[in-house]
Amino acid sequence: MDYFAYRDGVLHAEDVPLDQIAEEVGTPAYVYSRATLVRHARVFREALDVLPRRQIAFAVKSNPNLAVLKLLSSEGFGADVVSGGELERALAAGMSAEGIVFSGVGKTRAEMLRGLEAGIGQFNLESEEEGVELAALAAGHGFTARAALRVNPDVDAGTHGKISTGKAENKFGVPYDLAAGIYARLAALPGMDMRGLAVHIGSQLASLDPLERAFLKMGELMRAIRAQGDSVTHMDLGGGIGVPYKAGEVFPSPAEYGAMVARVTADWDVTLMFEPGRVITGNSGVLITRVIRVKPGVTSPFVIVDAAMNDLARPALYDAWHDFIAIRPSGETITANIVGPICESSDTFAMGRAIDAVKPGDLAAFRTAGAYGATMANTYNSRPLVPEVMVDGDRWAIVANRIDPAAILAAERVPDWLAE
Ligand code: LLP
Repeated sequence: MDYFAYRDGVLHAEDVPLDQIAEEVGTPAYVYSRATLVRHARVFREALDVLPRRQIAFAVKSNPNLAVLKLLSSEGFGADVVSGGELERALAAGMSAEGIVFSGVGKTRAEMLRGLEAGIGQFNLESEEEGVELAALAAGHGFTARAALRVNPDVDAGTHGKISTGKAENKFGVPYDLAAGIYARLAALPGMDMRGLAVHIGSQLASLDPLERAFLKMGELMRAIRAQGDSVTHMDLGGGIGVPYKAGEVFPSPAEYGAMVARVTADWDVTLMFEPGRVITGNSGVLITRVIRVKPGVTSPFVIVDAAMNDLARPALYDAWHDFIAIRPSGETITANIVGPICESSDTFAMGRAIDAVKPGDLAAFRTAGAYGATMANTYNSRPLVPEVMVDGDRWAIVANRIDPAAILAAERVPDWLAE
């Protein structure tokens, strides 16, 4: 459920008409609803109340905006970070270091040291090599690194290939069959406190079945590791629950997910950790855009909007669907291709889609843009970096400025030997 709805024929975010934000901030712009974020955070948290010991680390990558992090921090969420930059954001948002989990296959020494100095709760190790390096670094600086070993369970998540992470051929985690041995060797290193296992098989999962298969395998591995005499106190079950992108789609609910986890982990006797991203932020945001022009096409007209693949990359990268709705629909519909102004054919949001009839100057919104939207934006074609707005009831604020091409140009330098 979200708080984007039509009122008097105008799409609102909570109590604010989106055309008002478009007029004042310009387009394209991301708009988040605070009430929706809070609702999703609470629904997820309450779904896990059935579990005796649990910890939630929001996947910062899905929406790293400082205001979003601050909000989730006040809802009791920690953070799952994958870079030094995300780590600093989580700390800047006031998240406790204890609640921060550092994932990622390529943590540098500098990033690991920063995590140790900040006293983060857990490093999720993606290889034995990384664990050996972290232990040496920690021991050398007088720290003990709390860590979990990420395991690749070789389970097909049944999602888009580019966001699937738990198959044997993917770069993530250590092979399932080698994990117990690696765990024992890492647990014996000075500077290292191995406290458990981690798994994350992919994103935008439409079914709980692959997650359940992966968790069952992790339970078996946990028992084998305990049987060899090593302790396991934490199990990190990752993120991945999908959300509906098309009106009417039904996805597993957080409550069903919580019930499945409770059933599978009933006798585990661990603190369970979770790294939700999209399920919290996805439907909490829209990308508002203005139609620049409509031009005829061979089969359908092209609706050219001022948002492009640099602002919302998901359709170009994953053939993702985002509902496109007019901010003031006329009641008519047309079949059209929705494209941005960028000079490549991948800058296409939809082909031959039935949409609200729009004409040049009209405003529209791409829905379900709160996750992996602004965070993946760039400035390709020397376009501005898209701004972000948060609505709260009848008030709203810019939570990230538009960054003009001039500011980016100002950061570039021409070397002396070219400045003739
Ligand atoms: N934990 C780990 C270790 C992850 O790699 C991810 C996402 C998550 C948690 C959060 O997953 P979620 O709950 O959001 O599914 N850019 C792509 C999604 C990439 C996901 C990467 N990892 C997209 O736009 O669909």
